[in-house]
Amino acid sequence: MKEKLIEIIKEAGEILKDGYFSKKDVTFKAKKDLVTKYDVAVENFLKESFAKEFSDFNVIAEESDNTNKTFSNSIIVDPIDGTTNFVNKLPHTAISVGVYVNKKPYIGIVYNPILDELYTAVVGEGAYCNGEKIETSDEKDFQKALLSTGFPYSSGTCEDDLNDVIKKIKYILPRCQDIRRLGAASLDLCLVARGVYEGYYEMNLKAWDVSAGLIILQEAGGKVSNLDGNEYVLFENKYIVASNGFIHEELIKNLNI
Ligand code: IPD
Ligand code: CA
Ligand code: CA
Ligand code: CA
Repeated sequence: MKEKLIEIIKEAGEILKDGYFSKKDVTFKAKKDLVTKYDVAVENFLKESFAKEFSDFNVIAEESDNTNKTFSNSIIVDPIDGTTNFVNKLPHTAISVGVYVNKKPYIGIVYNPILDELYTAVVGEGAYCNGEKIETSDEKDFQKALLSTGFPYSSGTCEDDLNDVIKKIKYILPRCQDIRRLGAASLDLCLVARGVYEGYYEMNLKAWDVSAGLIILQEAGGKVSNLDGNEYVLFENKYIVASNGFIHEELIKNLNI
């Protein structure tokens, strides 16, 4: 299944890439949440291809109506993760595809066609970037940890969420190496998987933002949890916390101030 998925996702990557270098009209789904015709085109291509090749799976995808779709055996798709980057020609944008069997992680694929970086993982078989094995960093000192986060779209309208973002950054920033905000959750998780970041956290993400990246990170030796340090449950938890494992406890502690 992995090889067929890669073939389809690489083809979809050409649609993303064409759009990236073209002039685009932007529609606002919400104050901070953008969509273009390319998000829809990539999604439709993936949905049609997956329906043909993997008819036992439900496809759950960001730009579609997902009511009445069950999660059990599903392919969870973010056609363009990092649409704001895509629109502004910032080359951190990716197609994210996570496959779940009986609600359990099976395959994660994240493809950035602009940088031609393909992250893949099958549960139990390790994680790879362009075919080379990747592993999380072995940094144990929180003060030396480079972290990444994201700002929720709700920060434009919900003062509680905005205050929570600021409060956490104010506490954590002096205690770590630095904090980045790259703008594509799937790639943030892959960058922890690759040992670039030691940790990552964000609130209000959707299943398609993280369904693939969390598989890739866990297969690279990293850890994913909710804000309590317990198992992160797709579609349920407000916060995702991810790390190389070594700094996880301290990251959780610092996020719970
Ligand atoms: C967004 C990106 C971003 C994160 C947002 C996501 P989208 O996805 O992953 O990094 O901060 O919360 O919704 O809308 O570009 O697919
Ligand atoms: Ca979006
Ligand atoms: Ca997304
Ligand atoms: Ca998206």
